Amino acid sequence: MSTPTNGFRLSGVGSYLPEKIITNADLTASMDTSDEWIRERTGIGQRHVGGTTSELATIASRKAMERANVGPEDIDQLLLATTSPDFICPGTAPEVAYQLGLDCGALDIQAACSGWVYGLIMANGLLLQGMKKILVVGAEALDQITDYTDRNTGILFGNGAGAAVVETDESRAGDLLSWDMGAAGEYVHILYAEHGDVLKMDGREVFRQAVTAMQRSAGNALERAGLTAADIDLVIPHQANVRIVEAAWKRLGFSMDQTAMRLEETGNTSAASIPLVLDKALDEGRLQNGSTVMFLGFGAGMTWACTIVRWAGETR
Ligand code: COA
Repeated sequence: MSTPTNGFRLSGVGSYLPEKIITNADLTASMDTSDEWIRERTGIGQRHVGGTTSELATIASRKAMERANVGPEDIDQLLLATTSPDFICPGTAPEVAYQLGLDCGALDIQAACSGWVYGLIMANGLLLQGMKKILVVGAEALDQITDYTDRNTGILFGNGAGAAVVETDESRAGDLLSWDMGAAGEYVHILYAEHGDVLKMDGREVFRQAVTAMQRSAGNALERAGLTAADIDLVIPHQANVRIVEAAWKRLGFSMDQTAMRLEETGNTSAASIPLVLDKALDEGRLQNGSTVMFLGFGAGMTWACTIVRWAGETR
């Protein structure tokens, strides 16, 4: 079954990491851990902190809009995926839209680490409704809800933002080949933060559920696109733990050579992680027109989402 679209291209991508860094070595001052343990068990070497979600989102968005060669008047909708909004109320998207000078709807998506991929799928729906250009942003100030003295969670999370301008493509050179999206609320208590509190996590259970969700979602998206793992030129998975990716890849048949990672540099930046990797993959020339790329997210909720895109967007 083909996926309804009006063509789909990411015409400009941008990202931003705040300057301040907490290394694994820094963490050993506040918790009983070691650089070696964190690298071996997670693949993380450092995380960036500082800035608010709206500040980080605005910087990444400006870069994406510049690369797409669009002005604020061209954007028909802002979708901002975040699990660490500036305020509980209102959403963070209106502030970002204001900073960017947009004149359109602006809405937060709270689907934890899957949020940016949820946003791509929502953007396709809005493009089908007649919109032409959607700004899809993932931005997080996770340092607001992370306890950097707790070795269970403090080793994992950091701040960052990534953004893409998503456009229709009448030529269909760029297209959304398939998508998958899901949620399982029975797992809410394996990763959550209550009002005014920090993230709490059952790490082992999150690990297990994440592997299952990735296998299921990627499998569904491949089947719907009529593709196999070997047909995908580049997979960009959510960056939580390299061992989660390796475990999921065993059954899916992906190789790490097909996979873009940025975990060592960023830690887990939740909704920002996939566009942060995408920006780096473009810098490295890993995407060409015609490339097939998979974006695969999973996170608290549990939520998960996957898209397969035929790339005809920005290349560098
Ligand atoms: N530093 C050093 N030792 C640690 C540690 C740390 N930060 N955290 C736990 N340990 C110890 C434990 O106490 C335990 O010691 P023991 O064997 O003496 O009892 C041992 O290391 C193994 O603990 P375990 O909890 O089984 O480790 P793990 O391999 O499952 O790794 C996580 C823990 C959190 C890194 C891992 O479970 C994980 O990444 N889960 C998914 C989390 C995630 O991705 N969340 C976001 C999803 S979007």
